[in-house]
Amino acid sequence: MTAYRIALLPGDGIGPECMRATRTVLDQLVAGLPGLELSFTSHQAGAELYRQTGETIPADVLRDCLDADAVLLSAIGLPDVRQPDGTEVQPMMMVGLRRALGVHSAVRPVKLYPGAPCALRDAGPGIDFVVVRENLEGLFASFGGGSRVGEEVATDTMVITRQGTSRVTDFAFRLARRRNGRPLDGQRRVTCVDKANVFRSLAFFRQVFFDVAGQYPDVPSDAVYVDAMSLYMVQRPWDFDVLVMENQFGDILSDLGAGLVGGLGLGPSAEIGDEHALFQPSHGTAPQIAGKNLANPLATILSASMMLDWLGDKHRDAVCLEAAMIIENAVAQVIRQGDCLTPDLGGKAGTSDVAQAVADQLKLASAT
Ligand SMILES: NC(=O)c1ccc[n+]([C@@H]2O[C@H](COP(=O)([O-])OP(=O)(O)OC[C@H]3O[C@@H](n4cnc5c(N)ncnc54)[C@H](O)[C@@H]3O)[C@@H](O)[C@H]2O)c1
Repeated sequence: MTAYRIALLPGDGIGPECMRATRTVLDQLVAGLPGLELSFTSHQAGAELYRQTGETIPADVLRDCLDADAVLLSAIGLPDVRQPDGTEVQPMMMVGLRRALGVHSAVRPVKLYPGAPCALRDAGPGIDFVVVRENLEGLFASFGGGSRVGEEVATDTMVITRQGTSRVTDFAFRLARRRNGRPLDGQRRVTCVDKANVFRSLAFFRQVFFDVAGQYPDVPSDAVYVDAMSLYMVQRPWDFDVLVMENQFGDILSDLGAGLVGGLGLGPSAEIGDEHALFQPSHGTAPQIAGKNLANPLATILSASMMLDWLGDKHRDAVCLEAAMIIENAVAQVIRQGDCLTPDLGGKAGTSDVAQAVADQLKLASAT
């Protein structure tokens, strides 16, 4: 039996309550699933810590994240905690952590669970696609750089490299091979989302994408401009399977995707590198509802499921893979039943009630 050590970063705002909810589920799972062993270290990091000490993530916390088998983060940042240049401290920590862990590919599933409120009048044959976001380059490569000329001009630079683009494209094709294809007809497909008609950097992104696509003749591929993709995601999302794109485009389109399938409270994410991985919900710290037991914890719980799936895949650990599936099935069951959901999904339940409902479903699963 392999024991995994997870570094937890509960963060700010609704972060700690979503993390507590996720621990309720993970503790229940470990208690009921023989062969699964998880241990946790938990650290303060983020905007509140910056307010108190001037740093977002102390060196020993970063070290622990690097030493752990995986990192689970809830959400960080507070709009009133800013640097002198006007930017929030949140990206300082997130970009720094991503760079330190080398997590180059972010996976953001956009999946409509039966019972979840769908923004579309007609959900067609269903919604189940994945946004794969290049996580270290693109417009975010400029973070900490850029330039400002007095009160008149400011710039940030888009950085696209062959290495970074090949890496994320390769990741997207390998992911497509593990999936069941698009809801429309089950066909696997990887779509490059770019702005190759306007920018040299993104024409290069597309060129490298098709260079890599040539190595995967079994998976069809195509390319769509990002503005058109935001239309197609709303008009016919069932046509898509895996979308791969530059960092900033992925940041934006994954929120649009979450909006299609019930909101940010149902948007998990996995950020994967060659050695390390970081898991967190796509949402932020929602300060307006923080501390009120109103936050939807399901995105964090689903992120923990993605974490177990990654650990299981990496370590060829069937128990871990099963654990990931058990959590996702329990979440799906709670959504389907619909009587214990937070207000963002139309319910009246609290964060802790939802956590307990998911944990109870795990109990049912282990009893059958
Ligand atoms: N990776 C991260 O940790 C991350 C990501 C995005 C934003 N942020 C930070 O979060 C703070 C707030 O940013 P924002 O308001 O733009 O985005 P947000 O995601 O916190 O909130 C957007 C909207 O979604 C709602 N929402 C978000 N998560 C929810 C949940 N789990 N349950 C119910 N409703 C939820 C909020 O109430 C709000 O209406 C900022 O400081 C920002 O920098 C952090």
